[in-house]
Amino acid sequence: MILEIKKYPSPVLKNKAEEVLTITPEVKESILDMIEIVKKEKGIGLAAPQVGVSKRIIVIETEKGVTSFINPEILEKSKEKAIEEEGCLSLPGLYLKIKRAKKIEIRAKNIEGEELKIKAEGLLARVFQHEIDHLDGILIINRIGLLQRLRLRQKLKNF
Ligand code: CO
Repeated sequence: MILEIKKYPSPVLKNKAEEVLTITPEVKESILDMIEIVKKEKGIGLAAPQVGVSKRIIVIETEKGVTSFINPEILEKSKEKAIEEEGCLSLPGLYLKIKRAKKIEIRAKNIEGEELKIKAEGLLARVFQHEIDHLDGILIINRIGLLQRLRLRQKLKNF
């Protein structure tokens, strides 16, 4: 394993990640590393920018095991929302209540380059939204209200 988790305030976490045009051996290598890291850290999801790779790739723990999704896009979000506590491997020890859509539909490619459409709800829908946020440079600290943010400012430097 060559990749390591980038922690806040690493600049790569704030960038918009680039679309994957070709699933090269290098892309596959990054995916294998990401899967290894998410298992080792006992996470339920990881986005490529979190290991310093600014590409639109996420890995998520699903009922089929840790699975990769390339160029994931949210096609639909339910109006119904839920608030739950979330953590992030790039913000160790921090847990914040985040409002997310309860159900979503996404489109992505698998590691073979085949297009998939997935409907998710509950925790899985939440994890997809969290990881796709990472691809747009959005962290959970950017998803909270002003009051929670002011309190947090005392905890985090450079925020
Ligand atoms: Co995260």
